[in-house]
Amino acid sequence: MSVPLAPLDLAGQPRFAWRGVMLDVARRFRPIAELRRFVDLLAAHGLNVLQLHLTDDQGWRFEVRAYPLLTEVGGRRSASQLGHGPASTLDGVPHEGSYSQAELRELVAYAAARGIRIVPEIDVPGHAQSILAAYPEFGVGGADAVRARVAEPWTRFGISDEVLNVEEPTIDFVCTVFDELCDVFDSDVVGFGGDEAQKRRWRDDPRTQELMAERGLASAEELQAWFLGRIAGHLAERGRRVIGWDEMLEGADAADAAGSDGAPSGAPAVPSLPADAVVASWRGPVGAELGARLGHDVVLCPDLWTYFDYRQSDSADEPIPVGTVLSLDDVATFDPVPASAPEWFAERVVGVQANVWTEHLDTQARLDYAVFPRLGAFAEVAWNGGPLDPDGFAARVPGYLAWLDEQGVDYRPLDGPRPDQQRPGVPGVPRSREERLAELARLTATLAR
Ligand code: ACM
Repeated sequence: MSVPLAPLDLAGQPRFAWRGVMLDVARRFRPIAELRRFVDLLAAHGLNVLQLHLTDDQGWRFEVRAYPLLTEVGGRRSASQLGHGPASTLDGVPHEGSYSQAELRELVAYAAARGIRIVPEIDVPGHAQSILAAYPEFGVGGADAVRARVAEPWTRFGISDEVLNVEEPTIDFVCTVFDELCDVFDSDVVGFGGDEAQKRRWRDDPRTQELMAERGLASAEELQAWFLGRIAGHLAERGRRVIGWDEMLEGADAADAAGSDGAPSGAPAVPSLPADAVVASWRGPVGAELGARLGHDVVLCPDLWTYFDYRQSDSADEPIPVGTVLSLDDVATFDPVPASAPEWFAERVVGVQANVWTEHLDTQARLDYAVFPRLGAFAEVAWNGGPLDPDGFAARVPGYLAWLDEQGVDYRPLDGPRPDQQRPGVPGVPRSREERLAELARLTATLAR
């Protein structure tokens, strides 16, 4: 199948080289045929990167021949969380699935034929519970202790406390996984995660503390930078660059990174991170600015503008409302690189990416609801830069919705969800922009210091 170009403003030369979407197939496995359809739709929107989030606490989806239990055990959970927040329950429905290397190789070729590069992502050292369900020896505290804590991939959503340990055999294991990933995916950029690794287990574990002392590492943040640096170094030997979430800069010495005028100093503030590592900046502007100052390429995916799991209106009818309101019109106002941005920042921004986390998107129809029509506005921003001219974009929307109808896309109607798109009685946790901005300031304080 091939899909005609969407009737959007996608003429001339694109503003950004990286026009991406990240799809989380770890929380919700989607059959390979659906991924092909997704690729077709991305290509029809002038996009050129599909980052596949293949692993997380809740599931491991990538066949690794050297470690078959990753998919056999890590690819199946007995239930999934229904709803969000304290009132959520478990659905009691097993969820499983994984992709063979052959299937993924075919997907890479299918996507390449449509101008889409697939950037695979294996998330380490946190978001690791599905790994530890399969191979507890790679967790903190010894295999028996991990086995006692981890019965299976996480049935809850959120961030598990489980992280990988930092022993040499664990580094070897992760490198083997990435070797197999590189055999399947030809992208020069490979995702290694780095986000939200909970540091409690490292801090509480005497053996981890001993290893940190041996390696001259003063903090859990430096340990994370060390870990990611080891993996990035291994990938560099295979000719690959890494992309990681902005937490990967946490071991950075931000004070050294900036000159007094805020311009780059050229200081190698994260010695273990290769200069060509790409920062996916999702927690507001702080990671993007630090990454750019350090000379890294930056992909902008700030959650307030690009997280398509976030609710699309303030209405109680939105299905499992999470996050802040991100309407179609809000996406159209996304201004990735404002005219006032300094040149040293602007020249480091290689692109933008919409991220589709799928905790609550358990069918193709629910995925369609979250992604479309917001992807139309995002695609125009990725192509032309933002913000969009509101009247011009509004004039294109009816034709775009008609096109989505023709393609069989089950998008969100402009006036809200149809009854079958709602989730009555399933709780969500709507948040205000103010709450989220305060949280982002707290989360990124270590980068902004
Ligand atoms: C993320 O949203 N954890 C990158």
